Amino acid sequence: MLDWSESAASARQMHRSRAAAPLLASDPPGLGSIDRHGGRVSADEKRMINCRADVNQLLPLKYKWAWEKYLAACNNHWMPTEVSMQSDIALWKSRDGLIEEERRAIKRNLGFFAASESLVANNIVLAIYRHLTNPECRQYLLRQAFEEAVHTHTFQYIVESLGLDEGELFNMYREVPSITDKAAWAIKHTQHLDDPDFKTGTPAADQAFLRDLVAFYVIFEGMWFYTGFAQILSLGRRNKMVGIAEQYQYILRDESIHLNFGIDVINQIKIENPHLWTPEFQEQALNMIREATELEIRYAHDTMPRGVLGLNAGMFNEYMKFIANRRCAQIGLKQLYPGAENPFPWMSEVMDLKKEKNFFETRVTEYQTGGALSWD
Ligand SMILES: [Fe+2]
Ligand SMILES: [Fe+2]
Repeated sequence: MLDWSESAASARQMHRSRAAAPLLASDPPGLGSIDRHGGRVSADEKRMINCRADVNQLLPLKYKWAWEKYLAACNNHWMPTEVSMQSDIALWKSRDGLIEEERRAIKRNLGFFAASESLVANNIVLAIYRHLTNPECRQYLLRQAFEEAVHTHTFQYIVESLGLDEGELFNMYREVPSITDKAAWAIKHTQHLDDPDFKTGTPAADQAFLRDLVAFYVIFEGMWFYTGFAQILSLGRRNKMVGIAEQYQYILRDESIHLNFGIDVINQIKIENPHLWTPEFQEQALNMIREATELEIRYAHDTMPRGVLGLNAGMFNEYMKFIANRRCAQIGLKQLYPGAENPFPWMSEVMDLKKEKNFFETRVTEYQTGGALSWD
């Protein structure tokens, strides 16, 4: 049984030590002692980073795009347990329903996503939230953090439903080199910003924060998830693993808003801090996207070395270059791979749940209560 008197005492102790810790001049107002005589916040005072206006005042809104994405995300609410897994279970357990290459692609795919959702969530909570000093953006981040928890829940539910080896799946990000290489590439940005001594406020630190945003929003969620989406949705188009495919549709819908929120954040920081977007910084960002494209091409080859589902590694090479070009354009960088074309034009149709409501002959319609997929 919990000892409430002890936990209350330790809470009081924590409160005292927190109150005793002086806030630094670089901390955003709103967490220290309350300024009883301060003026009210006006929208003009709000800033994306290094803001000196109270972070507890959502209104008046300045960045309406952040609030609109919060509302759209709430309208897209779903839970993985509402999707039936019966036909997936039957297919997975049948002896000849799937060939070995399909099983390998599915497991690698699930293994990559299972840990990646947590890496993204940790980055939001430990790095982004602290340094993005705007209440409407933080409101969206709180919603996004919950959605990442729903996505992690999805992989727990799939493992449980199919009777997969949970240790194998949740350790792939440490044990499968093509997945480890991606996780290790991204996590160094979180580690850098999670350092208690890290503060924004200098050009070098603000650029480090921007690099984290590019790494996680543009690359991790905006590029690396798309190989997985194409693989699983391609299975769904062949009427295989339709429960997982339906869950991936919902994840894709959420992720496309995450991506577009990140792009808006980066572009707004650029508007407010043009001195950060130097030619050298742009070159660094392009190098990050180039490295990420190469890592993803290696991962795609590893997940389907001989090609399955009408897909092969060569197609993913082209697809990743096409997506890289699109992401470059969205944050105002030159295209890295001129002429790359989309080998999966059906992906944009799959993303539109309204049009494709009978796609998997499941019950997609009920979930869309607003906020269409016009984000990408
Ligand atoms: Fe996610
Ligand atoms: Fe996400």
